[in-house]
Amino acid sequence: MSDVKKLFIKTYGCQMNVYDSERMAEALGAKGYDTTTEMDEADMILLNTCHIREKAAEKLYSDLGRMKPLKEDKPDLKIGVAGCVAQAEGGEIMRRQPMVDLVVGPQTYHRLPAMMDQVDQGVPALDTDFPEEDKFDHLPKRVTKARPSAFLTVQEGCDKFCAFCVVPYTRGAEVSRPPERLLAEARALVERGVREITLLGQNVNAYHGEGPDGTWSLARLIWALDEIEGLARIRFTTSHPNDMDDDLIAAHGTCAKLMPYLHLPVQSGSDTILKAMNRKHTGASYIALIERIRAARPDLALSGDFIVGFPGETEQDFEDTMELVRQVNYAQAYSFKYSARPGTPAAEKDPVSDDVATARLHKLQALLTEQQKAAQENMVGREVGVLFEKEGRHGGQLVGKSDYLHAVHCDAPVEMIGTVQRVRIEASASNSLKGVLI
Ligand code: 5AD
Ligand code: SF4
Repeated sequence: MSDVKKLFIKTYGCQMNVYDSERMAEALGAKGYDTTTEMDEADMILLNTCHIREKAAEKLYSDLGRMKPLKEDKPDLKIGVAGCVAQAEGGEIMRRQPMVDLVVGPQTYHRLPAMMDQVDQGVPALDTDFPEEDKFDHLPKRVTKARPSAFLTVQEGCDKFCAFCVVPYTRGAEVSRPPERLLAEARALVERGVREITLLGQNVNAYHGEGPDGTWSLARLIWALDEIEGLARIRFTTSHPNDMDDDLIAAHGTCAKLMPYLHLPVQSGSDTILKAMNRKHTGASYIALIERIRAARPDLALSGDFIVGFPGETEQDFEDTMELVRQVNYAQAYSFKYSARPGTPAAEKDPVSDDVATARLHKLQALLTEQQKAAQENMVGREVGVLFEKEGRHGGQLVGKSDYLHAVHCDAPVEMIGTVQRVRIEASASNSLKGVLI
């Protein structure tokens, strides 16, 4: 076997998993692994899993089942499971699927090189601790090829304990990374050609990093990033309504690099359901907050998350959600049918029938799709900044993201990849816009 071994990573779920997968690839780089996009040629397969909704564990076991022939053909093939299902299921994964060599949680993947040494000795490795040390202090510097847009995890975990959510159990308590480290990581990204940084956290606007001069808020971090020359755009996700402080709201109006797009999940428009969800806000307080943010940045594109069919949700509760959506008018949104997560308080309650939940989901999605379509059509004829990220499918075309996070196709020279250009939007397709360079 050659010295360079091939690593295939499959990433499920959220953007933080995308970030974690990159960092795991770098950690395994130290053990001689180079990433591949072909599962068949891999010497190691790592599944970075998500546990947030439906049948996550079943999906993992069926994916693992499909890998069995690969492992039979190539007995040296190593198979690892990472992420939130690894955290939740732990050793159960190896009991059910003994061909798994390694199980690693989201807070211990800096230990991957040592775990691989153990695996290479033929001993399966399992680590789902919440360690004292910070994994970021023990990971190699970021080396993967920089794209124009990069993620940067600034905060992890959550202390909110929404009644439906596994995150506080799988990702653990809220922890913020120190601002100097983040600024150093951001500068290094920009030196490697990154123009847009999306700050990630399960509860990103609760960020409270310990700096040399006290605690930094997310707004302060954003203003410090704003000073990095060469960085054109800043975004952050995902936020909780109760952590939108005045400085962060103001920054949407005053920080030119902070893009006019905000993902602010509300989950439901019914106060009864919001209370049962332990959200600690009401529909009215959410709408009042949106009004304040829109006063700071009138053209802000809003995005949200919704859950329908939460235990106890009546027809009236669902109508309250529909009404909130009508009032807010979202540019984009994600909606889900409630799925009971083992170990969460809501999982103990009587579920809404699946037929009812499905019908509500379709109704809500129809409304959200209508709003999204209107928001896109509203862009036609307007000029907007676009960060070109890659070549499109048609020759001579590039694909990028608008300030408002729409995908935009545009005829432009490849040299414009990694630059922000002014584009006039000419047409709206189902999930993207078409524009011309100005
Ligand atoms: N069932 C359905 N949707 C859920 N989400 C989180 N937990 C659940 C669950 N148990 C949704 C929420 C959250 C998004 C990331 O996933 O809307 O904001
Ligand atoms: Fe889950 Fe978000 Fe609620 Fe935290 S705030 S418990 S991550 S839904």
